[in-house]
Amino acid sequence: MPRRVSDDMISRICDENDIIDYVSQYVQLKKSGRDYSGLCPFHHEKTPSFHVSQEKQLFHCFGCGASGNLVQFVMRTENLDFIDSLKLLADKAGIVIPEDDDGFSDEKHEKKKRILEMNKLSARFFYNCLKDKSIGEKGQHYFVKRNIPWKTVTVYGLGFAPDSRDMLIKHLASKGFSIDEIVEGGLAVRRDGKIYDKFRNRVMFPIIDVRGNVIGFGGRIMDDNKEVNGYKIPKYLNSPETPAFDKGRNLFSLNLAKNAKASEIILCEGYMDVISVYQAGIKNIVATLGTAITENQAKLMLRYAGEILICYDSDEAGTKAALKAIDIIHSVGGRSRVIRLKNAKDPDEYINKNGVEKFKEAIKNAMPSTEFKISLIKKQYDTTTTDGKILFIEEAAKIFAGIRDAVEIDAYITKVAEDTGISRDAILSKYREKTSKNKGNYPRIPTKTEYQKKTERKERETIREERTTPGLIAAEKRLLGLISQNRKLYKMTEKRLKAEEFSTRVYRKLAGLIYDSYTHDNLPEPSIILNSFSGDELSEASEVFYNLEVYSGDEATVRELLYTIILEKLDIRINSETNAANLAGLFRERERVLEEKNTWEE
Ligand code: UTP
Ligand code: MN
Repeated sequence: MPRRVSDDMISRICDENDIIDYVSQYVQLKKSGRDYSGLCPFHHEKTPSFHVSQEKQLFHCFGCGASGNLVQFVMRTENLDFIDSLKLLADKAGIVIPEDDDGFSDEKHEKKKRILEMNKLSARFFYNCLKDKSIGEKGQHYFVKRNIPWKTVTVYGLGFAPDSRDMLIKHLASKGFSIDEIVEGGLAVRRDGKIYDKFRNRVMFPIIDVRGNVIGFGGRIMDDNKEVNGYKIPKYLNSPETPAFDKGRNLFSLNLAKNAKASEIILCEGYMDVISVYQAGIKNIVATLGTAITENQAKLMLRYAGEILICYDSDEAGTKAALKAIDIIHSVGGRSRVIRLKNAKDPDEYINKNGVEKFKEAIKNAMPSTEFKISLIKKQYDTTTTDGKILFIEEAAKIFAGIRDAVEIDAYITKVAEDTGISRDAILSKYREKTSKNKGNYPRIPTKTEYQKKTERKERETIREERTTPGLIAAEKRLLGLISQNRKLYKMTEKRLKAEEFSTRVYRKLAGLIYDSYTHDNLPEPSIILNSFSGDELSEASEVFYNLEVYSGDEATVRELLYTIILEKLDIRINSETNAANLAGLFRERERVLEEKNTWEE
């Protein structure tokens, strides 16, 4: 996937998706003046203050300040990052974003698209088979037995693969897919020169990525421990890796979990676990795809939540896998805790046995990862004996050496000392022993001067940021809006005011981008420029463009604004200047500017 997309491509994608059409899926829009307006989807309100401009392809809420272009609207509503939002819009418009230098050729991209198309048809086929009583009755019974109502079936698009050699192959072939394509897409297998449907007589779980593509499937047998010709057949069969399916970079149900916008994501092992928990109303839950968690998956989850709650099976394999997950999450800079379920082998069983309230309690009691690790090694050693104590401390010190936070290390050392009766000093010296080889990488408390320097720097930055007044802001805002649509007005401005002389960080950045467009002979495009902003900065920047129509103005307006800005800036300096000589200089400067202004007005 390209991490950079050219501005031309972004423009094209935005052009081919109408913002009014797109936003209308979320907001009932009414024409009002030149804009459309409706109730803001980003805050609760009773009277509409949310505006969308077709002409400028921007939205803006006068109530909460939410603002931006279509891509930014998608980012907020779908909770996707910039590239993924762009991809979603590109897909909608049938545009293929060319992959840049990451070795992803057009041919491969074409293949991927064909497989995704095939997967979509297959998912629909499996779903229809499940729905059709004469074909899918066994599957229907199975889901009922697993406490999955039809509503959940539709949410997940669950299905049934009939017990037939080639029903799906025939279906896909009738839609124009070749046998080679079907095999490469992982939906059929060749054996002894014959070709079979890969999934037969299984209930089907489509795996859907964050953009809504069906990238693969998991299929489960309906009678456990079934043997065919003396071989136990696998409980779950998953699609193989294909150009569309990368098991290490996707997670089951992340497409649904991301919309929960929770501060945590629960990670479990099985598809059924996710589904049971989700239908009980806890939606921020995902599972890996039949393989151990990867760094990419950890990063992916951390894009949507600040912390990962590991909820693996309670058997030994699950515990081992949880330890591995903790380390992987930690290695990419993420935080995790561990949810422990008593008297149930997995979340699915737990929630069916005890109900959702108990599960919520277990979430609340999730154990910090370090504590979880220590509790496990403590179980391995008999800490009532001296030998046991020594071995335990040895292992515990290794865990401490992996912690990056000095306060946390300190707290754990204290806790372990209390729990075991071993002296704090002894544990501390073990810890030092473990970390002495690799000093630079361990936490260090900053010295007092370092700390002071940092605070001073921060204060200086704040002061610089605050050197402005409402009048100055209003003038700069209007000026930026004007120059963004007229080169002549820009030329006038650029002579008097450098981009870095604007008074807020956002305006400086915005001016920089506008000036830059003109230097490259382009008229600045608001919807492109806004891609450089996010969060609060975005609404501040977007407001500049949003009110262009009330800001119609000519050269005289710009000149007036320039003088307002220059004079306001001088006044700010005058108000804070304490040195008499400097003050006199500033007054003289002010006189000069006023005179210049008056001459011009006459
Ligand atoms: P589990 O065996 O714990 O299955 O495997 P489960 O999800 O709890 O399902 P039920 O409750 O028995 O129906 C956990 C995950 O490991 C992968 C699947 O992704 C499964 O969801 N797995 C398991 C396989 O890929 N193949 C297998 O044969 C078994
Ligand atoms: Mn299970």
